[in-house]
Amino acid sequence: MHSLLVTGGCGFIGTNFIRYIFTKTDYNGIVINLDKLTYAANPENLSDIAEMFPTRYFLEVGDICDIKKVSKIVEDYNVDAIVNFAAESHVDRSIYGPKDFLQTNVVGTFVLLETIRLYLERGKSIRFHQISTDEVFGSLAPQVQSYENSPYLPRSPYSASKASADHFVNAYINTYQIPATISICSNNYGPYQFPEKLIPLMILNMLEGKELPVYGDGLNVRDWLYVEDHCEAIWLILHQGRLGETYNIGGENEWENIKLVNLLCELVAKKINKKTDELKKLIKFVSDRPGHDKRYALNCDKIKRELNWKPKVDFIEGLNLTIDWYLQNSLWLHKVKSGEYIKWIEKNYLFR
Ligand code: NAD
Ligand code: DAU
Repeated sequence: MHSLLVTGGCGFIGTNFIRYIFTKTDYNGIVINLDKLTYAANPENLSDIAEMFPTRYFLEVGDICDIKKVSKIVEDYNVDAIVNFAAESHVDRSIYGPKDFLQTNVVGTFVLLETIRLYLERGKSIRFHQISTDEVFGSLAPQVQSYENSPYLPRSPYSASKASADHFVNAYINTYQIPATISICSNNYGPYQFPEKLIPLMILNMLEGKELPVYGDGLNVRDWLYVEDHCEAIWLILHQGRLGETYNIGGENEWENIKLVNLLCELVAKKINKKTDELKKLIKFVSDRPGHDKRYALNCDKIKRELNWKPKVDFIEGLNLTIDWYLQNSLWLHKVKSGEYIKWIEKNYLFR
């Protein structure tokens, strides 16, 4: 691999993945980051990487649904692998406005697959990796785990769009022999996550003394994985994963939301010299998310067995790293919240 196209690289996991490649691997090829720069993106996330590696990192602003743009990038940069992170990713937003989810998550993935199909037809070689989610398996009862071949039972517009995209990837593998893999991951946490998601939202609200909104009874369960562990697993699959296969990537670290919010209160209180109870008083049970999935849990035997991967970062250590990052990056938080980066986009792209 010498030319890797990463889509959605200005979002949370994509940013961490590109940083991982440049700082933790011996890869010496180029990385092209194709991102539409939606509300969830911040192009400044990678400005240090852009400065350090001007001949190896390239940001292309564009939409994965635009087949001309995608094909031109693949052609111009001689791309030999694509990792697709680009997506609308927030379940709550999918409930209030599902259309963008259908467009980017389904049509966008289809466009990437079509580009690859046509490229392969011309005798070129290119590999595809799709980033998927444990939400495709739907809501689980206690003790149950989802395996790679468990039936898909999506229940939100977000998970339906991700499930649909995975079906297209598998259909292209089966019908056109596209060299592709899929990974299915649980809830990620870590630096650069947009503060609409549970962990950064709670940290931010604690710092600002705002209410901590817990949906329903707070007993829904999520499995948490530090984002860098996810990045390492993707890198391994890209290099050693068997083509045509799907791999689960989980933290084996299940928490009820209310227990996690209480733990965050304890950890944040220590760092900002407040009493834990002062933060816990901010917890407020609010209306439940419509159709709120109760629990997700992945069985990760396959990736452990085949690729010798397991999560490295302990949960308390990962949460402390995450809290420290948000404490040290108040300017980043301010910018993503105020939409200030839009000005950056205008200056650098729109009126060039
Ligand atoms: P995110 O919302 O933080 O980032 C998404 C990025 O995609 C943004 O930079 C956005 O600008 C870009 N994007 C959106 N639409 C685009 C389009 N049409 N063309 C090009 N770029 C576009 O998301 P994330 O949390 O980093 O998630 C990345 C991927 O991982 C998604 O596919 C998501 O479904 C999956 N995933 C996320 C988690 C998680 O916990 N965050 C867990 C499992 C899987
Ligand atoms: O499971 C993987 C998925 O994890 C990814 O595919 C999604 O892209 C990602 O957004 C995430 O989805 P969740 O819905 O699990 O994440 P979120 O952070 O929105 O919510 C986590 C849990 O916390 C969920 O049960 C809802 C609850 N919650 C969330 C928010 C934002 C609250 O109780 N209060 C809140 O304010």
